[in-house]
Amino acid sequence: MLLPVITLDTKEDRSQNLIINISGSGVSLSGRVQIPGDKSISHRALMLGAIAQGETQIRGLLLGEDPRSTAACFRAMGAEISELNTDLVTIKGIGLGNLQEPVDVLNAGNSGTTLRLMLGLLASHPGKFFTVTGDNSLRSRPMSRVVKPLQQMGGQIWGRRENSLAPLAVSGQVLKPIHYHSPIASAQVKSCILFAGLMTEGETIVTEPEISRDHSERMLKAFGAQLQVDPDTKTVSVVGGKPLQGQSVVVPGDISSAAFWLVAGAITPGSELVVENVGVNPTRTGILEALTMMGAEIRQENQRLVAGEPVADLRVRCVRENGRLPLKACTIGGEIIPRLIDEIPILAVAAVFAEGVTVIKDAAELRVKESDRITVMVQQLTKMGANITELPDGMEITGGTPLQGTEVDSFTDHRIAMSLAIAALNATGKTTIHRAEAASISYPDFTTTLERICQV
Ligand code: S3P
Repeated sequence: MLLPVITLDTKEDRSQNLIINISGSGVSLSGRVQIPGDKSISHRALMLGAIAQGETQIRGLLLGEDPRSTAACFRAMGAEISELNTDLVTIKGIGLGNLQEPVDVLNAGNSGTTLRLMLGLLASHPGKFFTVTGDNSLRSRPMSRVVKPLQQMGGQIWGRRENSLAPLAVSGQVLKPIHYHSPIASAQVKSCILFAGLMTEGETIVTEPEISRDHSERMLKAFGAQLQVDPDTKTVSVVGGKPLQGQSVVVPGDISSAAFWLVAGAITPGSELVVENVGVNPTRTGILEALTMMGAEIRQENQRLVAGEPVADLRVRCVRENGRLPLKACTIGGEIIPRLIDEIPILAVAAVFAEGVTVIKDAAELRVKESDRITVMVQQLTKMGANITELPDGMEITGGTPLQGTEVDSFTDHRIAMSLAIAALNATGKTTIHRAEAASISYPDFTTTLERICQV
């Protein structure tokens, strides 16, 4: 009897085990994949639509848990946001400076982007009081990176551990502009300050050590903000007070979700996949550069510009030559890190199937994501038999040790759950991924797609 390759087992507490059972002959992957909308762009479209004048229309919104948290927060502050769906979401914006004081705590769930970007808007609403919180993971993630610059602008924010942990209380103020030299390359920090700058008289300026994703800049310009970007000095500035106008936004597919299929297609022998409609904004394409450096065969097809963001279909193949490992090891660090930060868990899986020693460094930020992604990936891949060691700011992976199916855990981190699933496809025997439901944070249809493209 042929055992099913993929089963999803829902438990009494509603958590799910994803069981992937690979027999000796293995699977290959083929077909075309449509990925969900970009998470970063989805959050920004909901937020800017809420604070703009007039109607915003969003097509292709991500229907994951994170954007749902953003929509719930902004509905609670007066924005009329239609039911969320991928075809069309309409928002009746309430205009700059008009967020209403919510009658209850705003809950950002698992979403750091919701909480950090929103703080910039809340802190700059004078005379209004807000309380914000999140789930267990979010309440342990550092907020001082946005609280400190907001305090320099005159923001009043309180929370546990010297105002660095949610729940946070915010008393909105008239802020003053600053030039903030951020110690970390973080689009959330940059966007939070720029959002606060929208309501602040004068020029608010942010300089980053490396360029982080620029979706806020692109969208703020489209909505009519007075924004200047200087890529040479990695500086962005906004002049406050200019009303934003509702826009039509088309959200491209999320390259961070595409990354699971790109790595799966690159390491699973005999595979060929086309991932359609992927956002290929250069501040996000570090994963394509890294995989190409490792020798993966990835082709960009049908390149186009959709509502200000570059988009392409990506074709990936894995042709294994006389039993050799499909990829070569590489060293990843420096300026590329912010451009592939969310893809490092799946890149670690790619490195397990690469000849030689892959080093990932300058990525200490991974320790403060939805989980400590360095420790968790090293522990879970080690359980499966990988030769991987933890570095303070990354990991070192010696490719080539075969993986064995076993019991692993997502630690409720969506990107860990999906990375382990791709590792499991290339392990022998049965892998059980505990708390796999975490995938729905950014990719609700992940398991269905996985089932569809697997050929036994
Ligand atoms: C995001 C920025 C990144 C990324 C996160 C989404 C954004 O975080 O890891 O998933 O939408 O601005 P940092 O700003 O902390 O680097």
